[in-house]
Amino acid sequence: MFSSSVDRALPKADLYRDLAASLRELLEGETDPIANLSNASGLLAQALERINWCGFYLLRRGELVLGPFQGKPACVRIPLGRGVCATAAERRETFVVPDVEKFPGHIACDAASRSEIVVPMLESGRLQGVLDVDAPEIGRFDGEDRAGLEAFVAILVPRIEWSRL
Ligand code: SME
Repeated sequence: MFSSSVDRALPKADLYRDLAASLRELLEGETDPIANLSNASGLLAQALERINWCGFYLLRRGELVLGPFQGKPACVRIPLGRGVCATAAERRETFVVPDVEKFPGHIACDAASRSEIVVPMLESGRLQGVLDVDAPEIGRFDGEDRAGLEAFVAILVPRIEWSRL
């Protein structure tokens, strides 16, 4: 049974180091997309404090479709070019949004969300989806979160057999 846990109270650099180690351990020997994305979202929800939603949107036929997540039920389909997730996906770069109300076109799935970070998932240059994390406070995510979550995605993406989705 997977037993390691991440101490939420650690300084961010240490927290993300432990999170990376936990993710590697959790995915060991498994490449199923739904299983690994589900466990990755569960791990994030356990490890990150002051968040209200975390999970994945997956690219399917030119739009983002809701994948495994933790939090309130969310919007299912997001066309490319709309909102934070799809903009980050289209531009293939991480978006840190300190105040979602100031982001043109932001899609409010959970009214509690105030800030957001979205990290694209690229497999050999091919866009597979995004990781999205929302927080109920303004300015929740900084450069350390960005580096930590980009590292998280970099561990996750090659451990998923995307063709099985
Ligand atoms: N806020 C996102 C939509 C996804 S939910 O936050 C889970 C956006 O603007 O793309």
